[in-house]
Amino acid sequence: MTDHNKPMANHLGIGVLGLHEGKSLLKALTYSIPDSVSQGHLLIGDEPRRSQYCRAIGGFDLDPAKRLSAAEMVPGLFYPDSLDEFFANPEIDIVAIYTPDPTHAELIIRAFEAGKHVICTKPLVTDLKQLGQIVAASKATGRRLLVGQSTRFFEPFLQQRKRTEAGEFGDVEFVDAQYNHRMDWFYAKSPWSIAETDWAFLGMSHPLDLLRWYLGPIKRVSATGSISKLGRDVGISGPDIYSVNIESEDGRTGRALGHYGLVELPTARNAIELMVYGSKGTSLAQYHDMKLKRTGEDGAEITEDWLYEKRGYFFNNEVHGMHYGEFARYADAFAKALIEGSKASPELEEGVDVVLLMEAVRRSANSGHAVELADLRNEAGL
Ligand SMILES: NC(=O)c1ccc[n+]([C@@H]2O[C@H](COP(=O)([O-])OP(=O)(O)OC[C@H]3O[C@@H](n4cnc5c(N)ncnc54)[C@H](O)[C@@H]3O)[C@@H](O)[C@H]2O)c1
Repeated sequence: MTDHNKPMANHLGIGVLGLHEGKSLLKALTYSIPDSVSQGHLLIGDEPRRSQYCRAIGGFDLDPAKRLSAAEMVPGLFYPDSLDEFFANPEIDIVAIYTPDPTHAELIIRAFEAGKHVICTKPLVTDLKQLGQIVAASKATGRRLLVGQSTRFFEPFLQQRKRTEAGEFGDVEFVDAQYNHRMDWFYAKSPWSIAETDWAFLGMSHPLDLLRWYLGPIKRVSATGSISKLGRDVGISGPDIYSVNIESEDGRTGRALGHYGLVELPTARNAIELMVYGSKGTSLAQYHDMKLKRTGEDGAEITEDWLYEKRGYFFNNEVHGMHYGEFARYADAFAKALIEGSKASPELEEGVDVVLLMEAVRRSANSGHAVELADLRNEAGL
């Protein structure tokens, strides 16, 4: 076993706020990996690690029981009793936020003002008024922010992107993304999700970000929404089934689907899927089977499957659905960009676009009319 949290040159310190999902990042950056299952990890010298550029410092949660449980799961780190102590720790260069959606903006601004850079889980914020505030705080403090869009950092989606950028599928002409997942367990665990946000921001943050990633800035959105039996039973007010059509600024089109009250998917389909239709080929990336299926101009289909190679990295050899690999990858990409002074993606500008897109989806489904993103941008004062 190796010490995966040993300080190294060019390491940035990560402090986590919100120790439910956020615990995964601390665990991803610190847990030793038995050498026999170290395939898929970065090799730093002869040591397998998940991250080359950052290390875990510690975390804070308002709930003392969550702090205790994090300290049991990932021992030996900094778990202060107050937010003030957390922000005062000079070892924390990057604050990674995994608190309930409505709290993100306030914590982002506090972190910037404490001189920290920020990773904020998706969705960045859920209210247009907060967009201007976080953009202004970033400008005033010179601090940077990465949105933790985990799906982009899952192996098949990274590989699909690499092949697309290399021109293998020709020009991207249409993009079709989905995230479908039964959410009764989530309502029970996170009751704030019932009344304080909307599925346009919760689940739809994945497929909508994927559309923005491939199609660039979005011009117009037309969406419909309805409520499933599960949604009615728990008493949500907004839709938990969304069907979205979008048009990008450059005239391309795409669609996104989200269903959060379904039963189970047949195994042929995955919860998150991204189909990219190009002029020379098509490809399908899948979460969490870890497969990329692609066809070229000759019509032959090739399937690549990384599950056994990378399950140690992504799932820590536990159940599917943990996010160790994605969280470590985006933290590493952001830390590298900060150290080198280069750009990461998606930073604040792209994050703002996705918030405008999510709000456009919510409003279009509620009103029955198409929504122009330029109008929302004006309303947000951007
Ligand atoms: N794929 C992904 O990237 C992914 C997956 C799951 C959740 N998330 C996101 O992570 C966030 C948290 O989700 P969750 O499922 O862990 O929610 P949760 O409700 O289970 O946990 C949130 C935690 O934040 C704590 N908290 C609340 N306010 C706080 C504050 N001001 N300071 C410190 N701690 C505070 C709570 O006590 C709680 O322990 C959400 O924004 C969610 O969308 C992202």
